Order: sequence, then structure tokens, then C-alpha cells
Amino acid sequence: TPDITSVCKDAGAGVNKKDDAIRTLKCCPPSLGKEVKHFVFPKEKTVRMRWPAHNGTKEQVDKYRAAIKAMRALPDDHPHSFVSQAKIHCAYCNGGYTQVASGELFKDIDLQIHNSWLFFPFHRWYLYFYERILGKLINDPTFALPFWKWDEPAGMPIPEMFVPETIDGQPNPLYDVYRNPHHIKEGYVDLDYNGTDKHLSDKTQVACNLSTVYRDLVRNGSDTVAFFGGDYVAGDSPVANGDPSVGSVEAGCHTAVHIWVGDKTKPNREDMGNFYSAGYDPAFYIHHANVDRMWKLWKELGIRGHVEPNCEGWLNASYVFYDENEELVRVFNKDCVKLDRLKYNYIENSKEVFPWRKSRP
Ligand code: C2O
Repeated sequence: TPDITSVCKDAGAGVNKKDDAIRTLKCCPPSLGKEVKHFVFPKEKTVRMRWPAHNGTKEQVDKYRAAIKAMRALPDDHPHSFVSQAKIHCAYCNGGYTQVASGELFKDIDLQIHNSWLFFPFHRWYLYFYERILGKLINDPTFALPFWKWDEPAGMPIPEMFVPETIDGQPNPLYDVYRNPHHIKEGYVDLDYNGTDKHLSDKTQVACNLSTVYRDLVRNGSDTVAFFGGDYVAGDSPVANGDPSVGSVEAGCHTAVHIWVGDKTKPNREDMGNFYSAGYDPAFYIHHANVDRMWKLWKELGIRGHVEPNCEGWLNASYVFYDENEELVRVFNKDCVKLDRLKYNYIENSKEVFPWRKSRP
């Protein structure tokens, strides 16, 4: 559990070519000495319905663009700024924080929220606040994020709205210069991408992707540990990438999309190909919305064993975020399990929720 108000250092862990890093390694939030408050569940009646990014209405797309534009316009040191939001990922994932669970204990061990059971809940909370901040910036309490629906054939290419550099002569706020230009043009994402292009036909790529989703949600994600990742508690060193305790989705389609989008000619595969820079690509949050949705779908499959961890070490693990009112709040894993309490959900296709259900590899 980090103490982000007093203990934070420059990031570096996991950044291979630090000297050539394109983004800054100074990822600490503007929080020194600030009080951390209790999180209060949202009281509003409306549920924010996240929408498939390839299928948004003009109104949805325009609002989303306007919100990101407003976020980019804030000064970098504002906790809601585009850069501050990106740095959250860097600080939590590249050695910004240490584990200070019980006072002085573990103050020399870095916190890492990847490669373990912290992965799903941390990112759920991250997007929860990010979405509410965007809504606040455009004064729309119903604002909902899009999700990159790569588990359905029509949603597999990078959503079109992210691609153009300019729109009507203005910079497109959803564009990011550090992406693999070939992939952005080429179409279908490879959910099993490992750095080498396979040059499959669209039809074959679609079929492979569907079986990759099946692999990660069903075959390799058959129980709590397999799906969420193994336990990681105060005193454990950061789990190395590729460790067998990383969850099936995290290790599988999640990471594949990161490296597929990132620019492999850049020193650290910026932006999406490294934790420290991933948050600078707006596509990151849209990708993670779908990763978050995989948690929901995994439960909805209704298969025995598809349940969240229920031990203390998981339930009471916590993080600190700036909320939409610029307050620092501490949030716990146990409070993010039920989506209806968080007042958001995902728009599903009523006919076919699991288009990969019969795609056993
Ligand atoms: Cu925190 Cu997709 O990584």
C-alpha cells in the first residue's frame, strides 16, 4: 500500500534505456503533505455506460474528444492533467513507490501493481477516476469511456477515431505520435502478438484472436489464481515479468495489445510498449476498459471457480488516487468488485456477448 503523499522517487525500474527515455521519469504526483481521505461511493442514479469504441455515435465520439482535449489543455502539474494521469501508471509500475504498509517496514521494496492479483483492481480504480475526471471537465455527469472491443471481429482494428493526426485542421486529441505506424494502418490487432508480425489474412487473424480470447478467459483462466494472478503482499519483491503467477489475460491479450500498438523503433517501445509511457497514449485507457470488461465477462460466463480472491491480503490492498474533486482518496480492492456500486457498466451486444465462446484453440 503506497504512501503517495510522502514517499515517491523517480521512476526507472523496467525502463531499459533510461537515458533515451522519450517521456519523463519524474512521475511523482503533486501530493506532498496532502491529506488522504476516505473514498465515498458515488450517489448518482445514472449509470455511465461505456460504449464500444468502433461503434460510437457522433455525439459520443465528439464528447470524448472534447474531454481529452480539455484534459490536454490543463497545466501539466494539475492533478487532472493529461500528463499527471499518464504519470500515475509510471509511478505505480516503474518503481515510484515503495511498500510502506506498516510504517517503516518494507520501505526499501518497490511497489509493482503488475504481474500479480493487483493488476485487475488497480486498473479498475485508475479508469474509474479517469472517467469521472473527464466527465467533470466537460460538465457531463453521464460521461462514459469507450472501450476497444477487440474480442469481437468488427472491433479488432484500432478504433478509427484514434488514427487521424488532424481533424478539420486541428490536432486530433486522440492521436499519439509514438505508435507503430504499420499496425495503425494495417487493421486487425494480433491478440497473440509477441513482437513479430505474422502477416495473416484478416480472416485468419480474426479466428486466431477469437481463440486467444477463449484461451485467456476459459482455458488458461480456469480459477481465481489463474485469472487474477498470484498473491502479492507487503514484503514481496515486485514480481518479474513472465512470472508464472501473472494472470491469464494480463499475460496474454493485454500485453500483446500493448506491444502491438507501441513503436518498436523507439528505445522503450514508447508509448504503449512500456509501463512508464503507456498512459501517454489515449488508446491505453480504451484498451484497459476492455481488459476491465474481461473481468466482468469472466464472471458472467458463470463457470465454477470464476470468483474473485476473497482473502484479507487482496480485499484490503489499497491505492491512492486523485478523485474528480481533486481530493486524494484511498480505495480498496474489496470496494471495486461490484460495478453497480461504482455506477458504470458496459454496453453489450444483446445477441452475442461471447463471440469467442466456441473458439476453443
Ligand atoms: Cu498497467 Cu496495460 O498496463
